[in-house]
Amino acid sequence: MLFPKNFFWGASTSAFQIEGAYNIDGKGLATTDVRPVPEGIADTKVACDHYHHWRQDVDLMAELGLKTYRMGFSWSRIMPDETLVPNEKGLAFYDQLIDYLLEKGIEPLVTLYHFECPQALVDAFGGWQSRRMIDAYAAYAEVCFRHFRGRITKWVTVNEQFIASAAPGMAMAYIEDPFERSKKIWQISYHISLAEHKAFSLLKKIDPEALIGPVCSIQVVYPLSSKPEDIRAAMEAEEMMEFCLLDMSVYGEYSPFARTWLQERNLLPAAEEEDVQILHASRPDFIGINYYFSVCAEYAEKPFDFDTSFFWAADDCRIVANPHLTKTEWMNMGTDPLGLYDGMVKIYNRYRLPMIVTENGMAVSEALDEEGKIHDDYRIGYLSDHIRQVGRLCEEGYPVFGYCPWSFMDVLSSHQGFAKRYGLVFIDRTDTDVKECQRYKKDSFEWYRKVIETNGEEL
Ligand code: BG6
Repeated sequence: MLFPKNFFWGASTSAFQIEGAYNIDGKGLATTDVRPVPEGIADTKVACDHYHHWRQDVDLMAELGLKTYRMGFSWSRIMPDETLVPNEKGLAFYDQLIDYLLEKGIEPLVTLYHFECPQALVDAFGGWQSRRMIDAYAAYAEVCFRHFRGRITKWVTVNEQFIASAAPGMAMAYIEDPFERSKKIWQISYHISLAEHKAFSLLKKIDPEALIGPVCSIQVVYPLSSKPEDIRAAMEAEEMMEFCLLDMSVYGEYSPFARTWLQERNLLPAAEEEDVQILHASRPDFIGINYYFSVCAEYAEKPFDFDTSFFWAADDCRIVANPHLTKTEWMNMGTDPLGLYDGMVKIYNRYRLPMIVTENGMAVSEALDEEGKIHDDYRIGYLSDHIRQVGRLCEEGYPVFGYCPWSFMDVLSSHQGFAKRYGLVFIDRTDTDVKECQRYKKDSFEWYRKVIETNGEEL
């Protein structure tokens, strides 16, 4: 394996999934703090209690040898409400964390928006449903860019815009009528695109040396069969689930296919005159890649179904699991390392931008054994198979500059609590008992430490 010399071996988390301390030191409530959580599933109040364990966590990262730490800022900790006044204590929390990371030689890669925003903005004007959110996000981004100028040199605007725009509990799409909901979700995603481009432009003014880009959940879609209709269905699903929003991030416009698709369904977002200029004024420096599994598409003749949980359900396509892949408890679509290579080649061919894997991981239910260990050879297998594909991309000359497994430690799942774990570090708590949130290194921790030490020679 030939990884570049300064390859960014990293690991990922996000703010609401680890921090806890949901209402202290001036933090406003976030949308994820107030969303309904089913009985028996952990909420954000404590999460991994990273807010009180951050120094120990960074020490573990240093022991692991991380070159980069892909983390998130909590918007509502930094800018709690619609007055847009920064919270000094929130900034101070991140100051100490960022400074300690830098002291340990770990470069922070910071996500500004990862599935959550201040609830106050939703209450005041409907959050992303309103164009006021574009300026609120820009104000928040500007505070971060100015405050951390020179210390944070890599930024992510938005994590998985596709999911962020559509998830009802996270993105304010509480609308009964399915068509109106779809329309609103597209409008929300359009506002996010405008906000993202404002952030790209702002960073270039404030800190021209720093880099910025979106993180995309790459949705590799294979045709279920060689029937031309299935092949077309897979192509269309990828266009709408992945490329459509990345085209907005990179080129500031929808592809002809996506535009027509939206127009035909009366889903094209309302735009204003100034938008074209905003969207075309900037481009990202890199693309972050989140990849967990691939899916298959099969042609299904049926009327457009607005009443689906995801806005990407296409009219003539059904998304199904690949029958050739092995499924596990939490990975019901199976795992497919080759898909990571295929997906990244497609992204590079379309955008010609440097890429970093910002998330890739395997979820398993885990508990400490009598010796306080987690022997997660399954995770080691999953990660090494995927890292091999990244190595192949590097060897072939694709500009991949880093790899970050999800997740550095077990985190609160986006919606399934602590039963589902991805971490290299075990957090000793359950959904219903927060205990002390003690940290334990899993076997994958030591394995990944060697991977980093040998720059990917030992996998
Ligand atoms: C990614 C998100 O989509 O998937 C993470 O960026 C999330 O926030 C991860 O945790 C895994 O998904 P889940 O639902 O298992 O937590």
